[in-house]
Amino acid sequence: MTRSIKIAPSILSADFANFGAEIRAIEDQGADWVHVDVMDGHFVPNLTFGPPAVKAFRPHVTTVMDVHLMIAPVDPYIEAYAEAGADVLTAHIEAGPHPHRTLQAIRAAGMKAGIALNPGTPAESVEHLLDLTDLICVMTVNPGFGGQKFIDMTAKIARLREMIGDRDVLIEIDGGVDPTTAPLAVDAGADVLVAGSAVFKGGSVDCPDVYGANMRAIREAVAG
Ligand code: DX5
Ligand code: ZN
Repeated sequence: MTRSIKIAPSILSADFANFGAEIRAIEDQGADWVHVDVMDGHFVPNLTFGPPAVKAFRPHVTTVMDVHLMIAPVDPYIEAYAEAGADVLTAHIEAGPHPHRTLQAIRAAGMKAGIALNPGTPAESVEHLLDLTDLICVMTVNPGFGGQKFIDMTAKIARLREMIGDRDVLIEIDGGVDPTTAPLAVDAGADVLVAGSAVFKGGSVDCPDVYGANMRAIREAVAG
């Protein structure tokens, strides 16, 4: 059976003055999810969206709003991102000492719970969290910025796929994903491909076909 691979464009690469139209354009062009990168200028050296911004995106998203928190601490903000309308809320395992509690709190707030791993963090770090997790985000760059070079995490993805077994847990990859890098991760077991630059490059809300062509190029590369 063919696995269904999802493409989740990161709106970090969108026009920041035009998020509503950008979200509608990528969805019209075939995006499966919309990936929202939340950065706090502390856990990562960049600053992006707080809960009010994410809440403003919500009415434009008709697929799945996938919110990636690159913040520490996480727990005081879980309720605010639930109210903002996140469908999936992902926290970094490196963000605090109690990821088990964090995942429980995300599910208790009615969202799917994700855990993200920086490139230097081993697969085994999530071994005792698998029953509380709906998605594992394997970072293929050090978080903080779009447009960075892909770091090969194939061995980690394969190990996680083995550890997950028959549990219903998706593996997402995030950073430097394009038609040349995506196939490596998909072959190793990734299900959700986050891509910022590779989806938005060359396009705009006035030229949305380019977004569609960019997403098709990734899909065709992983299908082959
Ligand atoms: C990096 C973010 C990514 C980023 C991906 O910290 O989590 O989602 O936007 O951007 P590209 O695809 O340009 O590497
Ligand atoms: Zn991200």
